[in-house]
Amino acid sequence: MISTKSKLDIEKLREGGKILATILGELKKAVAPGVKTSDLDTLAYRLIIKAGAKPAFLHYRPEGAKSDYPASLCVSINEEIVHGLPGKRVLKVGDLVTLDLGLEYKGLFTDMAITVGVGKIKVEDKKLLAVTAQALAVGIATAGPGKTTGDIGSAIEKFVKKQGFTIIKGLAGHGVGYAPHEEPYVPNYGHRGGGEKLIPGLVLALEPMVSTGSSAIKLLADDWTYITRDKSPNAHFEKTIVITETGVEILT
Ligand code: MF3
Ligand code: CO
Repeated sequence: MISTKSKLDIEKLREGGKILATILGELKKAVAPGVKTSDLDTLAYRLIIKAGAKPAFLHYRPEGAKSDYPASLCVSINEEIVHGLPGKRVLKVGDLVTLDLGLEYKGLFTDMAITVGVGKIKVEDKKLLAVTAQALAVGIATAGPGKTTGDIGSAIEKFVKKQGFTIIKGLAGHGVGYAPHEEPYVPNYGHRGGGEKLIPGLVLALEPMVSTGSSAIKLLADDWTYITRDKSPNAHFEKTIVITETGVEILT
């Protein structure tokens, strides 16, 4: 069922979203060659607890998953797209690392992700990061009351194609707020006017995932990490937004 959030809920989401964005900014600063991915997860957990919030992903089981997610932060490197597990792996120069984090604050959930280059990265990879961040901005600019999820997806995909990259299929944005994942499903492709109508109070996590190669995904044997089937590098940016009477407000 699609739910809209009350004014009070949105105030709480705004507070939680601000905390989440600040923490993700801190994690970005901690990204450097030689850093262990589990250390980023530990830092994420500590910062969330210090802020009086709860990690949304720790012990969460997304629909279709075989177990509970064992960490607070998703760390996905290079060909990995989403849900990479933090562990003993160490970041190295040239890696593209996606940090995806969710938190619960005063009972409400927000979700956010960024992709960061480790040390000096290739010029093409810089372009990939810029285009993916812009794709998210295009999606947000397209959203508003009376628009549809298909409007968002179609605008995002058109933009990404024009820049010479590919939208990853099989993973998508989603409703959020009372749970880490809610309806509606918000694909990063689609038809104008298609999908669900956007109404004031609807809270969405928009999250374009952009590949330098194939759009096809593959789930690794760990049952969590999604990679591009052709192992091409990719990027992912995500923000939580709310549809307002007049447009959108970014919550994270
Ligand atoms: N932000 C992730 C998403 O929207 C949520 C990860 S849930 C986890 O898919 F359980 F995998 F961590
Ligand atoms: Co999400």
